[in-house]
Amino acid sequence: MIPLSIPKLEGNEWQYVQDCLNTGWISSAGSYVTQFEDQVAAYAGAKYGVACMNGTAGLHIAQLLLGVTKNDHVIAPNITFIATLNAIKYTGAAPILIDVDADNWQMDLELLESYLKEHTIEKTENNETFRVDTTTQKRVRAIMPVHVLGNIGDMDRLVAIAKTYHLAIIEDSTEALGTTFNTKHAGSFGKIGVFSFNGNKIISTGGGGVLVTNDAALAKQAKHLTTQAKVSAMDYIHDAIGYNYRLVNVLAAIGVAQMEQFPGILNDKRTLDAYYRKHLQGVGDITFQAVLDGAHPNGWLFTFSTSRMRDLLAYLNANGVQSRPFWMPMNQLEMFTDAIYVTRHDVSAAVYERSISIPSSAGITEEQLETVVRTIKDFYNKK
Ligand SMILES: Cc1ncc(COP(=O)(O)O)c(C=O)c1O
Repeated sequence: MIPLSIPKLEGNEWQYVQDCLNTGWISSAGSYVTQFEDQVAAYAGAKYGVACMNGTAGLHIAQLLLGVTKNDHVIAPNITFIATLNAIKYTGAAPILIDVDADNWQMDLELLESYLKEHTIEKTENNETFRVDTTTQKRVRAIMPVHVLGNIGDMDRLVAIAKTYHLAIIEDSTEALGTTFNTKHAGSFGKIGVFSFNGNKIISTGGGGVLVTNDAALAKQAKHLTTQAKVSAMDYIHDAIGYNYRLVNVLAAIGVAQMEQFPGILNDKRTLDAYYRKHLQGVGDITFQAVLDGAHPNGWLFTFSTSRMRDLLAYLNANGVQSRPFWMPMNQLEMFTDAIYVTRHDVSAAVYERSISIPSSAGITEEQLETVVRTIKDFYNKK
């Protein structure tokens, strides 16, 4: 079976892990954690990085840092991986789901703006101006754009909308290490960005995340909250409900080795993306995820649309090409059927019904790529 997406571990991973084992620094303290945080932050063009045990934990902490509570709304796209919404629910906030753009599958910014214009009003309290949803009376405190599949929407416009409507931006950049918009890196547009290093991500620590920010106080507080909010090096005194969300040194060691190889891996992914776009162009009724002018995606997971998605999915998996359907839209999941869903034509449902992800490992061989393309062509030629 040609796998969907497996890590490429061809650098110093083994050597750095052995170093942890030899020195005994396997757990929550150790130099690899700091190195990894610095590498990811520098790559993303942010001043500070704080490692977490995974991206979901990072998204949770990011919201706590920006004061999200159960009295708030957080805006998110209706098409994302469940972890985005779970992280919102951990805070008690109510998500507002925005339908996606039919072409690039990122949050539809027209819909976002019309929701904010027509369904929220401005309020000022204690010298702070913010927006309140007119139906629920809850404050709309933050927006969490997701760079779906490592692609990216018009971040300049999103930043402008967020400014007009007083929303804090937390970027779910979990899939988007290496992605830029107008040369600015995903994760660096808002107050906080979060990357994931889960097994299926562009690089991996097995499980892990890094939260990035340019704000020293937020970074300090992020470290504090992810490490049990302990205030004294000696005594067990804590000043908040903290979390044990830290990334352990042995996993950060893998991350350091992965970051060293990242430029090559990013190049592999973009080459793979270009290969599929070239060779699947005009095959059956396949259409690709659009890329905006100024967007430079990382090519994380190649996903395309076809009206025969379910049949193709079964055919590929039966013929040695591991493939997966796209995420069920959030408004269709039983936990979120009551959430506010801003849509005109429910584009999310159509994208979900038609989209399929195909093998996209950085280490995929040319022969495997040819096999994937040939198997897809065979499917359309047969029926
Ligand atoms: C869009 C999105 N958000 C959040 C996450 C959560 O990241 P993690 O698996 O590291 O918790 C993931 C990946 O798994 C993701 O794809």
